[in-house]
Amino acid sequence: MRRNATKINEFKQFLGRQEFAKWCDQLLAQALYNIRPERHGDLSRWQAAVDNLPALSTDYKIYDGSRISIGEVSEILPADKQQLKKSLMELHPWRKGPYELFGLHVDSEWRSDWKWDRLAAHLPDMNGQNVLDVGCGNGYHCWRMLGCGANYVLGIDPSVKFLIQHQAINQYARETRFDFLPLASEHLPEDLAYFDTVFSMGVIYHRRTPQNHLVELRNAMVTGGTLILETLIVDEAANGLLMPASRYAQMSNVWFIPTVSKLTEELTKAKFINIRCVDINETSMNEQRSTDWMKFYSLKNHLNATNPAITIEGYPRPKRAILIANGA
Ligand SMILES: C[S@@+](CC[C@H](N)C(=O)[O-])C[C@H]1O[C@@H](n2cnc3c(N)ncnc32)[C@H](O)[C@@H]1O
Repeated sequence: MRRNATKINEFKQFLGRQEFAKWCDQLLAQALYNIRPERHGDLSRWQAAVDNLPALSTDYKIYDGSRISIGEVSEILPADKQQLKKSLMELHPWRKGPYELFGLHVDSEWRSDWKWDRLAAHLPDMNGQNVLDVGCGNGYHCWRMLGCGANYVLGIDPSVKFLIQHQAINQYARETRFDFLPLASEHLPEDLAYFDTVFSMGVIYHRRTPQNHLVELRNAMVTGGTLILETLIVDEAANGLLMPASRYAQMSNVWFIPTVSKLTEELTKAKFINIRCVDINETSMNEQRSTDWMKFYSLKNHLNATNPAITIEGYPRPKRAILIANGA
């Protein structure tokens, strides 16, 4: 009971926002259900790691650089820095980043800043916008959205580990313009129609029903809003869809990978207009790799050792596209 009360406290900032008042009870119930302790054996250990973070405060916050940087080296004592590292390491693996906290570089598996660099030139002017990031991971790109002048960012992701990593970062950022809820896109209200720009990056291939995902994204935005859709793609496939028999690059939850033209068709069906593909990029082993902060296998180990053009399952190696569209 005490834990539940604490968690509600963690969502208090979101619950206080009048624009979401109509759906608050429903979203809170779903969020609490998603993080129920019986589903996550390690939750109390992770929560303890956050509780053990050194108490520090800072006004130094940089959201528009490659590293999300909070706190300066001069603001932390060596013993606290050790404790900071120990607590953050308890939250291993750090897949999304990089971050820099009081001079401590959290070198994540993904150079998430590279994805941002590829899309930045194509983004709408987000100054003063309300922005939704669906499947936001630990929130790395949400900070970048604030760095672009967004008025408010809501990040949702069903992964509790990512929620906890966000809480660790936000313990120091204390950001009032960014909320993170442990929700999946299918938990968003159908009549939301609130966000000016909606991001879905690296999510659609995890959905068994991609068309439903696109409709959820459209429902979340204002009329004429902008969708940024980033996904794995293939150059060609029967009927425009590669459907891995089981794993793809060792991931067990990749249900289909479309061609750009199939994706464009699906976006059109979901009533998006002005659809354009602004970037295609083959993921490199420098962008996704093992580091001290993500010690498990990474892309290198998921490709065929003698022919890195294919995954170990024999599919084309990961290539990703960014599509931008507007809600009609
Ligand atoms: C490949 S990661 C991408 C993270 C981040 N958007 C990025 O581009 O780096 C996919 C994320 O989608 C989340 N996810 C999976 N299914 C989802 C769903 N139905 N709704 C929202 N997020 C989902 C996962 O928990 C994971 O954090």
